[in-house]
Amino acid sequence: MTWQPARESAPVVWLSKLAKLAPGKSIRGGVPVCWPWFGAHATEAGYPGHGYARTVPWEVHGTAATADGATQLTLRLCESEQTRAMWPHASRAEIRITVGKTLKVALTTHNMGDADFVIGEALHTYLHIGDIGEVRILGLEGCEYMDKAGGGVRRNQEGAVTFTGETDRVYVSTEAECVIEDARLQRRIRVAKSGSRSTVVWTPWAEKADKMGDFGPDGWRAMVCVESANALENTVTVPARGCHTLAVEYSTEPH
Ligand code: BG6
Repeated sequence: MTWQPARESAPVVWLSKLAKLAPGKSIRGGVPVCWPWFGAHATEAGYPGHGYARTVPWEVHGTAATADGATQLTLRLCESEQTRAMWPHASRAEIRITVGKTLKVALTTHNMGDADFVIGEALHTYLHIGDIGEVRILGLEGCEYMDKAGGGVRRNQEGAVTFTGETDRVYVSTEAECVIEDARLQRRIRVAKSGSRSTVVWTPWAEKADKMGDFGPDGWRAMVCVESANALENTVTVPARGCHTLAVEYSTEPH
């Protein structure tokens, strides 16, 4: 739900003070796992947005201390009749979280069946920043994106990403590392990924955050989501008996 390396005076992964920690609810903050689809389901309007992985229980499959002093947790999603009704594929979702000087999160989808299937996914990470009006995101220059807040039109990113209002963009066909430059907290957060061809950048801004109700007053100003994803034309075909891993490493450095 949050992560703050020892040398940092502020968390790197943001958690809302008003996050609702209740069964079946998604948490406002942390690293929500969007799986096995991203955004709205392609055909079933009644299915949960961003899939069901972020609102069902996971079980601890393993824990380890790594040689370099990090702590590693491996979790598996618990399937149920309800999840199987929405996702009738023989699959296993596993997440490995390595907490140390950096934070690593790796989401693996195993296809245990005899037919390929297609997934959408994201590690929907909320990053803690000094102020949304003062950060820049580098790494997406020249990329094409779908502008969800701007009616779904396609545009090209010119220069660094900066924020002056609600921003909801799916950058497609990019494997680039992103850096969040934070002038106020005097640091850079680096987001380095593999197995991910989309990057989603999201900030709700005042009005939407207010409606959502779980950000707290001005909470939205202290976060930005930089999501390592496979969405839109970048959904992934997981071959029969095969697997796919989306992995991200978060680290910080002085600005
Ligand atoms: C982003 C989407 O990934 O998640 C946005 O692009 C959405 O459209 C946001 O508003 C938050 O979603 P939720 O379901 O956690 O409120």
